[in-house]
Amino acid sequence: MAQLHLIETGSGAPLVLLHAFPLNSSMWAAQVEALGDSWRVICPDQRGFGGSLLPDADVDAAPSLDALADDLAELLDARRISEPVVLAGLSMGGYVVMAFWRRHRERVRALVLADTKASADSPEAAAGRERIAAEVVSAASSAQLVDELTPTLLGSTTRSERPLVLGRVKALVESAPPDAVAWAQRAMAARPDSFADLRTVDVPALVIVGVEDAISPPADARAMADAMPGARLVQIPAAGHLSAIEAPDDFNAALGSFLDQLR
Ligand code: MLT
Repeated sequence: MAQLHLIETGSGAPLVLLHAFPLNSSMWAAQVEALGDSWRVICPDQRGFGGSLLPDADVDAAPSLDALADDLAELLDARRISEPVVLAGLSMGGYVVMAFWRRHRERVRALVLADTKASADSPEAAAGRERIAAEVVSAASSAQLVDELTPTLLGSTTRSERPLVLGRVKALVESAPPDAVAWAQRAMAARPDSFADLRTVDVPALVIVGVEDAISPPADARAMADAMPGARLVQIPAAGHLSAIEAPDDFNAALGSFLDQLR
């Protein structure tokens, strides 16, 4: 288990936001500001990222997103949160939401899957992750990821019209610790297909996707929404894979209206 650093603010029912790869909890700044008045918003840094350490033993252990799901269960215990939480995750955070549903579903009040997908990696995608893992560890730096990842993490509108967002994301990617990047890439490569699990979702569910998302395009979001009984799908215009950062007002409107209906 890893002890997680987190941002926590507000009071009320718990809402957990799980960040994308290779970012950290700071990606949720706009959501924390918008929702902290009415929810107890908890944004952990997943192991290895932000202020959370990658436990030594895990650097060589077989990485699995199940460990990230269990980290969250332990964090909730440590915060004495026994009531079910609203759990939202973007991209890798969404993969962890699905792992958490598999392992701890009794702790979930509602779930939000943003810019993520339920399918497993193809052999080619898994091989690409292994290449990245080996490269960043050997270079002891994530700098090379900036050119490789930024064009797919951000939509074309953001890349051409939102220089501050572009700069912020590049800085986050560059500062990601190489060991954490490698661990997370291997964990994502090992993740299973989650469609059968989504068919068992019996809590309110929301799927959000940026229309310009090139990593988990709208077709993946539609497939997840179709798999979850009663799920709602919201598409965010002029946003790519990091819709919560690229179009925070639209993202917050979609999330806020879903949350309002839970109350
Ligand atoms: C993420 O944003 O978390 C990653 O792009 C997910 C992935 O690589 O599949």
